Amino acid sequence: MLSFGDPRAFARTIKAAGCKLICQVQDMASARLALEAGADLLVAQGGEGGGHGGGRATLPLVPAIVDAFAPIPVVAAGGIADGRGLAAALMLGAEGALVGTRFYASHEALGHRAAKEAIGAAGGDETTRTTIFDAVRDLDWPTPYTGRALRNGFVARWHDRERELAAALEQERGRYRAAARDGDVDTAVVWAGEAVDLIHSVESAGDLVRRIGSEAEAQLRLGASLSSE
Ligand SMILES: Cc1cc2nc3c(=O)[nH]c(=O)nc-3n(C[C@H](O)[C@H](O)[C@H](O)COP(=O)(O)O)c2cc1C
Repeated sequence: MLSFGDPRAFARTIKAAGCKLICQVQDMASARLALEAGADLLVAQGGEGGGHGGGRATLPLVPAIVDAFAPIPVVAAGGIADGRGLAAALMLGAEGALVGTRFYASHEALGHRAAKEAIGAAGGDETTRTTIFDAVRDLDWPTPYTGRALRNGFVARWHDRERELAAALEQERGRYRAAARDGDVDTAVVWAGEAVDLIHSVESAGDLVRRIGSEAEAQLRLGASLSSE
């Protein structure tokens, strides 16, 4: 699975290995590039999602990509954390959902315990898209990509002050590395999407898959009953 940038340079190697090529795309232009690369499946990623991504919203992006690139299967990503979101994604024409933030707050995820607890405690208003965590880690992400993370002390201090951060990198780098090592989530990044509103506990991934699936089935049955009245 490739995300971000031009996938064409890597597509041939992936196909030659006999693998399916999944491309996560953020807008129509990147979806077109993915098709040129021979993508077998597109992940339409809205900016509500946690981690790196673009600026389009999931709700209009998914059906636009479904319509434009049929019959390539599309999976929806960004802001989906429960069965309602999965059912909505299916109604938009997606074949399924790629869920990130919800599974970060799972026992199996490799993140720090403090990060998982912060996701369980936060609301969606407390996330933002920013470049400061890339800057302090010396990662040169190109525009238009930013990362959605929890607003913490580091965001309060540096978001929208990228130039000042660049000037202070010498000191900030060391402070940041220590925070990331120690699980100090007031400084270290916690990548998380707007769907943190829907996450209240750290659970096992298997339980989450089963619950999201059964909730989605119930939502779809409810929808069907509404339309037959
Ligand atoms: C902690 C975390 C790490 C992520 N890392 C990556 C990554 O390395 N590569 C990538 O393509 N997407 C990454 N993503 C984005 C996911 O692929 C996905 O688009 C996103 O999580 C979907 O939105 P959601 O978080 O609302 O479920 C990450 C997301 C999170 C929450």
